[in-house]
Amino acid sequence: MNAPIVVDSVAALRAQVRDWRQAGLGVAMVPTMGALHDGHISLIRIALERADRCVVSIFVNPTQFAPTEDLDKYPRQLARDLDRLRDAGAHLAFTPGVAEMYPTGFATRISVGGPSSGLETDFRPNFFDGVATVVAKLFLQTAPDWAVFGEKDYQQLCVVRQLCRDLDLPVEIIGAPTVRDARGLAMSSRNAYLGEAELDVARQLNVILRRTAAELASGANEIRATSIATEALAQAGFQKVDYVAAREAVTLAPWRCDRDGRLLAAAWLGTTRLIDNVEIRST
Ligand code: PAF
Repeated sequence: MNAPIVVDSVAALRAQVRDWRQAGLGVAMVPTMGALHDGHISLIRIALERADRCVVSIFVNPTQFAPTEDLDKYPRQLARDLDRLRDAGAHLAFTPGVAEMYPTGFATRISVGGPSSGLETDFRPNFFDGVATVVAKLFLQTAPDWAVFGEKDYQQLCVVRQLCRDLDLPVEIIGAPTVRDARGLAMSSRNAYLGEAELDVARQLNVILRRTAAELASGANEIRATSIATEALAQAGFQKVDYVAAREAVTLAPWRCDRDGRLLAAAWLGTTRLIDNVEIRST
């Protein structure tokens, strides 16, 4: 595979995408914060099934981190990421610095309603404003036909869809299934913070969610099932459970048991916060 073109300025990104468009090529984008793992590679694969060219952005976006969060220690490994992009067949890596994305005087914030309320927002109040603002910028800078987001960050996927609908951004959003290890652990850049024993505990998150989703699908009481799941996570070794919640699959409004839903959870292992979600298939 050829190494991807690497650009760190919006001007160079636009010039390259313009050349591709003039040649009649379709462009897909995969926004990332780097520390690429197999989950990201699956997004690139899906992008390349649709598009002639795939742009991957690598930008650890400061506006989606609270001052107490892991912005400084978030894994940064550009050389390794570029190797992975080459192997995956991505065509361009957009690696802007903070000053390119947020020049002095930057003063705009996009706030999406609907699916952003509750869940992550209850614990990370500014997170989705930061995500929506940077994703809107990336879309306007790149102008892709498609953009691929993982279902692992399910609420983010719903928020990005809402953003594109509401602002008429001409990008088709593709949701990609979560990539898991052989024992069900969702791939996440934050897994790098975990030791072997913690990884074993982390794997229980998906086990407990799947079990609870099956119970909900067969008519279990939602409040009871989610509190049993919360208790089971604590028993498994999670020190703190932020939420286990059933939601309607598209709007993330409270789940109605006659509809397909999503069971979402966030829980802490030491100083690492993990999220996961599974489908609730109504019968
Ligand atoms: O999911 C992520 O990695 C980030 O939230 C995103 C979408 C790249 C925006 O910074």
